[in-house]
Amino acid sequence: MMRIGRLYMSKDKHIAVIGTGYVGLVAACCLAKSGHRVVAAEKNSDKLKQLQGGVMPIYEEGLSDIFTAVTGDGRLTFTSDLKTALAHATVLIIAVGTPSLADGRVDLAQVNAVAVAIARLAEKPLTVIMKSTVPPGTGKSIFKRYFSQAKVPIQYVSNPEFLREGKAVWDWYHPDRLVIGCAAPEVADQLIELYSDIEAPKVTMDITSAEMVKYASNAFLATKISFINEIANLCERVGASIDAVAPAVGMDKRIGPHFLQAGLGYGGSCFPKDTKGLEHVSVFNDYNFNLLKAVIEVNARQRVTAVRKIIKALDGVTGKKIAILGLAFKPGTDDVREAPALDIIDYLISEGAKIAACDPLALVSAKQRFPTEDIQFYTDPYQACRDCAAVVLATEWPEFVNLDWEQIKQGMQMPCMLLDGRNVLDKDVIKRYGYRYEAFGRN
Ligand code: UDX
Repeated sequence: MMRIGRLYMSKDKHIAVIGTGYVGLVAACCLAKSGHRVVAAEKNSDKLKQLQGGVMPIYEEGLSDIFTAVTGDGRLTFTSDLKTALAHATVLIIAVGTPSLADGRVDLAQVNAVAVAIARLAEKPLTVIMKSTVPPGTGKSIFKRYFSQAKVPIQYVSNPEFLREGKAVWDWYHPDRLVIGCAAPEVADQLIELYSDIEAPKVTMDITSAEMVKYASNAFLATKISFINEIANLCERVGASIDAVAPAVGMDKRIGPHFLQAGLGYGGSCFPKDTKGLEHVSVFNDYNFNLLKAVIEVNARQRVTAVRKIIKALDGVTGKKIAILGLAFKPGTDDVREAPALDIIDYLISEGAKIAACDPLALVSAKQRFPTEDIQFYTDPYQACRDCAAVVLATEWPEFVNLDWEQIKQGMQMPCMLLDGRNVLDKDVIKRYGYRYEAFGRN
């Protein structure tokens, strides 16, 4: 037993994790690796079957070794039943989805359903840790509506995660900070003990502030991206080069070099959802968050700008074949949620183009999105580009960046254009091969 502050805690706590997406599964595996006994609950029967069969339903760098080890020695098990997960748990982590509704509001249905079940099923004191991203004010409301009425004492903690898809394991062990939002200091002690093997500043605050830290962080990162895209668009008009401007701006230590890469803008399951979710919180609280609205609008417009560049370069795309290299919202993942390529494909098809789509990991998830004959899917980028009038580099997969672009051009229709959606190719080399080269702010 270890004595921590005013609390006696065993190293191996019993932890329930609800939801096995890239946050829940990473948390379950890493906490089991730290010595805790974890039961993860997953309601999707297909995913549960995979997990119980020792198969990971998601790809995350470095996770499979941990998953194999902790499932192999029984420190991590899976169930569909919340009561089973709760049986011995003193700590429960909520990591279920909080997707966007059509109007941008955050869908809290899964979170509320889990909270109702916990309040009903908990039979001994429990600390509930909210890792799902929920709008500021949610935690206080959930506690008041569900946990304050429970038959046993339930503590609530907001502990937002800052994991990047594809780097979630690395980010778990190397966070810039651990944010702990709770009503009582002794509850924070529990989290500090839970994360005792992670070297990072632990910042404690009230619940609503902790929820706001998550939204403010993602909204600010999205703002940096939309800002540098606006600067890139202006560079095109004044004859400046974003390749020179962005790095020099980023050398200011107050700004920093990260998230200043101009291009097609952000996608994924977080920035789009969290910026729209925060905008809705603003509207609901009678605040006009103009800057955030602009960030969202600029990001949406980058995809339109890309299509307009293609249409202009080809003098129309009707009946023409266009290759889209990269469907995932970023390299290293098969996740296509809100990926720029999806909107670009929709716009081009609506303009009468035929699409050849290629991605190293995301073909399966993308196919479900396009039930149309106007798009063909390829595993080989050289095949995808054959007979195309244009090629769009939409995701900067290393294997696409390093293609033999001279060979690619030989198979294309003339005159051919290349839209470098992530500003990652050597434009002089590409132009020398005879492409009409387009990008964002690269004069
Ligand atoms: C993000 C946050 O980084 C993470 O902290 C949070 O927990 C979840 O949301 P993620 O969505 O996985 O993580 O991806 P990230 O690597 O941050 O990139 C987000 C998007 O921004 C990608 O579409 C990427 O292409 C784009 N991006 C990123 C740019 O367009 N320019 C940049 O300079 C950086």
